[in-house]
Amino acid sequence: MEKGSVSSNIEKLIQAMTLEEKASLCSGKNYWETQNIDRLGIPSIMMSDGSHGLRKQKNLLDPLGFTESVKSTCYPTASTVACSFDKELLYLMGDYIGRECQTEHVSVLLGPGVNIKRSPLCGRNYEYYSEDPYLTGELASAFVQGLQSHHVGACLNHFVANNQEKNRMTLDTILDERTLREIYLSAFEHIVKTAKPWSILGAFNRVNGEFMCENQYLLKDILRNEWGFEGIVISDWGAINDRVKGLMAGADIEMPSSCGKNNKKIVMAVKKKNLKEDVLDKTVKRILKGYDALSIHQETAYDRQEHHHIARHIACESLVLLKNKDHILPLSKTCQVAIIGEYALKPMYQGLGSSRINPTRIDNAYEQIVKITGTTTVTYAKGYHTHDHLLDPQLIHEATDLARKSDIALLFIGTPESCQSEGIDRKDMALPEPHRQLILEISQVNTNIVVILMNGGPVEMPWVDRVKAILACYLPGQGGGYAIANILYGDINPSGKLTETFPLRLKDNPTYRNFPKYKQQVQYREGIYVGYRYYDTASIDVLYPFGHGLSYTTFVYTDLRLSQQKIKDTEGLTVTFKVTNTGLVEGKEVVQLYIKDRVSSIFRPEKELKGFHKMSLLPNQTKEVVMTLHKRDFAYYNVEMKDWCVESGIFDILVGASSRDLRLQASLEIQSTSQYNEEKNQIKELLPSYYAQDDSMNRVSAAEFKLLYGHPIKDTIETPFTMNSRLIDIKNNLGKYMVSFIVKMYENHIEHTIKDEMTSEMMQNMLWETPIRCLVNLSQGLFTDEIGEFIVAIANKKKRLIKGIKFFRSLLMIKKIHGRS
Ligand code: BGC
Repeated sequence: MEKGSVSSNIEKLIQAMTLEEKASLCSGKNYWETQNIDRLGIPSIMMSDGSHGLRKQKNLLDPLGFTESVKSTCYPTASTVACSFDKELLYLMGDYIGRECQTEHVSVLLGPGVNIKRSPLCGRNYEYYSEDPYLTGELASAFVQGLQSHHVGACLNHFVANNQEKNRMTLDTILDERTLREIYLSAFEHIVKTAKPWSILGAFNRVNGEFMCENQYLLKDILRNEWGFEGIVISDWGAINDRVKGLMAGADIEMPSSCGKNNKKIVMAVKKKNLKEDVLDKTVKRILKGYDALSIHQETAYDRQEHHHIARHIACESLVLLKNKDHILPLSKTCQVAIIGEYALKPMYQGLGSSRINPTRIDNAYEQIVKITGTTTVTYAKGYHTHDHLLDPQLIHEATDLARKSDIALLFIGTPESCQSEGIDRKDMALPEPHRQLILEISQVNTNIVVILMNGGPVEMPWVDRVKAILACYLPGQGGGYAIANILYGDINPSGKLTETFPLRLKDNPTYRNFPKYKQQVQYREGIYVGYRYYDTASIDVLYPFGHGLSYTTFVYTDLRLSQQKIKDTEGLTVTFKVTNTGLVEGKEVVQLYIKDRVSSIFRPEKELKGFHKMSLLPNQTKEVVMTLHKRDFAYYNVEMKDWCVESGIFDILVGASSRDLRLQASLEIQSTSQYNEEKNQIKELLPSYYAQDDSMNRVSAAEFKLLYGHPIKDTIETPFTMNSRLIDIKNNLGKYMVSFIVKMYENHIEHTIKDEMTSEMMQNMLWETPIRCLVNLSQGLFTDEIGEFIVAIANKKKRLIKGIKFFRSLLMIKKIHGRS
């Protein structure tokens, strides 16, 4: 498509369109493309996933959206690259993915994923950056800028408060305004304001009772009016509930196509004067303006080899050395190592779901180690099976035997695919049993164990004292094997740091009691106390804190200076300090700046990250770091003022190597310019848990949360059954025969089209949680609203004979279509 080809005369184009044509632009024409209008020269554009590379599906018409995709570079996942704390690297990754989009004629990339990691159990955490909104916003903004430098549009997802997979299509997230603003919206806000993303994906879930794709408050009042977002809101695939209501709220494009069904509803609503044509015109205008910002596609193929090297480089910058007792790492090239664990040969390098890349190639750590050391010092034992993760005593025995005869045991273990998957949340934070068993057995015969952890997120480590080193690789993409080998042998000095806390146990996580498996409503009772904001405020011991990561060298921090000792909140503050590499090798340090409001009338976290910088230092080299802070960095969101406020008082500036390794401290006095009467903030008696500074935040009662929330909380139950009831809800009801027929039909389709077992299992899982409404919307015309309504009626035990006849007629038709495919 040619840049600038559409908008030269948008007004005229709109005038020339029929009502039907305008409505058609508000929906995809198939699973991945938007509708074109040839007679007016309006093109169709293609959208594709995802967050760590390009997943362009080969067959555009396949209704599942999970079949084979073209080959592309699998970069480290968002959870991995975030550990680099390196904005330039994020820009580079966006830039390289942008080039691939150009070659593949993809105009919009459905990424980055910027949801906050509320609980370590969320299956899609691997697609997200951090538990911290400031870090997320800064990194994702750089990614978007890199991507869009090629005139490929970004699509921030999943907007918003979409922090678990279970029931994701119907879940109602209940959270208070301050938490929404400070934790869940602020990364989106920062990216919108600094990087002007092309689009935002409206999530499946409801927020405070309203589906995201019809949430006026979030889409219109906040996103567009407050933040000035000028891009396009796209519905997540199937997230449209009421199309007309959605359009009024600002959900511009429905994806995938509803095959004309919802376009007709738009047309009808305009004709019946239930929808102003002006609303539709504004939507069309935004869409056409958006098309214009996209660019002419390059016909040249990108250099796969070069992109693979970039994937390796990004992985090298991102892996996190969690532990290195007795300086066991880096390894000498002459020591005898036993490589144990099938992940050394078949790495766990990405997650499962819509972001899954079909990689151009994959480095495995075993081969990369052999390249560095030669074969004579390396042996291998499988240790466990990757296909079922069941305990195999013979494999454990062989591995232990090998470890006994070696200087060092390099243990490749980690979380299986089911722990990093769209549509499925983790059950716990434990490693699979065979992996734990290997540590137990091997530590009896060899104390020199180095764990190479491939993890979608944090894991519990009751075994941590049995091993000497742990290298957390997260899901390092197709170049991960290269990075692992080079870090183990010291050719690369590790420099990643954790962007989320590793708690000692799942129970310690503040969402532990509020991460529902069955209910369709989730209450964010922990409020703003997410991740280290909770652990540090409540002084809970953790396994590895936010911001932690080791290097093969050491750094000393000195000379912290503030530009002023006393400021008004409207003035800026400059913070400077020095960092020296005091070790023997070159290394990179991620320096972090936190602020702490010493005394506050409103409850606040113990500290919050407000600055970070990654720097490279030669041995003995010293560099000065300069960071600037502004009002927003000291502020909290004042719900009554509907604004960000700073209270007068003393603030600490804390500088260090992690949230729990603070090396420098200074303080300043800030004078508030806000008109707010702080006396009003005295709500301590009403919300004791939020002020308690202990683990009470993990046990907030329903009554206390209600007070924080400030509105009545309605239950989210679909009774009697509605179009938003899920297949699983109807399973044990009269509707079950129809449901099992539909499920069988989809299952057959899944089995025939999806070759990989785990993806097929994931799809079947997701299918049961699909609400009837989505089933209709996603069916690409196979199911009609009438069929959906009939299932609902039957489930509600109502007799709808005529609809029943229509239903069976449609089923016969589907069978016929199916028979042909
Ligand atoms: C996911 C999105 C994805 C879309 C298209 C949805 O199920 O939530 O992240 O972009 O599918 O694959």
